[in-house]
Amino acid sequence: MPISLRTQVGIVGAGPAGLVLSHLLYLHGIDSIVVENRSRQYVEERVRAGVLEQGTVDLLVEMGVGERMKREGLVHYGIELRFAGHGHRIDFQELTGGKGITIYAQHEVLKDLNNARAATGGQVFFEVEDVSVHDFDGARPKIRYKKDGNACELTCDFIAGCDGFHGICRPSIPSGVLTEYERQYPFGWLGILAEAPPSSAELVYTHHDRGFALLSMRTPQISRLYLQCDPDEDIDRWPDERIWQELHVRLASDGWKLTEGQILQKGITGMRSFVVEPMQYGRLFLAGDSAHIVPPTGAKGLNLAVADVRILARALNQYHTTGGRDPLDRYSETCLRRVWKVQRFSWWMTSMLHRFPDENPFDQRRQLAELDYVTSSRAAATTLAENYVGLPME
Ligand code: FAD
Ligand code: DHB
Repeated sequence: MPISLRTQVGIVGAGPAGLVLSHLLYLHGIDSIVVENRSRQYVEERVRAGVLEQGTVDLLVEMGVGERMKREGLVHYGIELRFAGHGHRIDFQELTGGKGITIYAQHEVLKDLNNARAATGGQVFFEVEDVSVHDFDGARPKIRYKKDGNACELTCDFIAGCDGFHGICRPSIPSGVLTEYERQYPFGWLGILAEAPPSSAELVYTHHDRGFALLSMRTPQISRLYLQCDPDEDIDRWPDERIWQELHVRLASDGWKLTEGQILQKGITGMRSFVVEPMQYGRLFLAGDSAHIVPPTGAKGLNLAVADVRILARALNQYHTTGGRDPLDRYSETCLRRVWKVQRFSWWMTSMLHRFPDENPFDQRRQLAELDYVTSSRAAATTLAENYVGLPME
């Protein structure tokens, strides 16, 4: 006989979507249990995103998990677009009525959330195995998994599939229900974390004949840098000297110098746009990367995951307090309006800044004209700025 547990909302995955949802539900007085197949240490050390929209920051502060982020996060009020060897600043503060972004690593957000869940008696089970979801087309959905070799069955009112792109929730929905929309890009990003003070105070997105490059950071001592590379690039072909050499060439600009340092971590990320519709079936709700992926240009993945669960938590709270199902029934529709706008923005930033293998000289000239337009027209710069700092929540 499996060990039986009961909760109101069973959450699969302790990434940003799962942990933010769990803590929001706690603040609404709703019980949840999170099951995660990795260890807490793994989740808290995995290097991923680093840019938080103003709305994400405000939510984390409201939830009481923003104290360290406020202290250690770096607030930026603009970015630089660099092309044809010259930099052009997009001034978020001026163009969006004072909004900005915060640089604070995703795994630091996860540490803060895990600490908050632990301090408030939250149940997050790490290192579970063989997770599966059942009966979500009825009133009593179940999550089955193994913990320390013991079979467990968690009965809940609702399941939140926050288990990322490779998770099990989305594929558990019967075939024929979901429609997938997808675009693959013919390149990837080679990312490094380096022990070097950032060479620029703000992020620098660079268009270059040899491909896109991005200068970002994590702290005043640590830089995060990316290079466009082949989608199936072998990291072993990129010794540290080659990475620095390529970054110097692509980021070059008059009177500007790139500071090198020891490379602490390096890896290659694929690029895709992906959406499933709808994001719900019966009592199973998909949130974050389990429902959609954006290419990283513009740093939207984490922020979009947080936007989904904010809507889901509100809908579950409505159900819990009044029995009203309407916001839950409209969950997918509400999320998808934002999801598609963010997809558009991420696709646009990606298309504007990368070299495409099949492009012709016309495409190149058009890209440069687009960059010139975005950096010289206030109207065009405003559309970039308002999307970058984050569209308003509905
Ligand atoms: P995830 O963070 O993927 O969390 C899902 C969780 O579910 C994971 O902890 C996973 O271990 C767990 N899980 C999976 N399967 C199961 C299962 N069967 N049972 C239990 N648990 C399960 N975005 C940016 O904006 N900028 C970036 O620079 C950037 N870099 C990235 C680099 C990489 C390598 C990757 C993969 C993503 C990157 N992203 C980036 C995207 C961003 O990190 C994601 O959009 C964000 O993590 C989404 O949060 P999530 O909670 O939906 O999913
Ligand atoms: C970072 C990642 C992004 O995808 C981006 O557009 C900007 C910054 C980062 O990891 O710092």
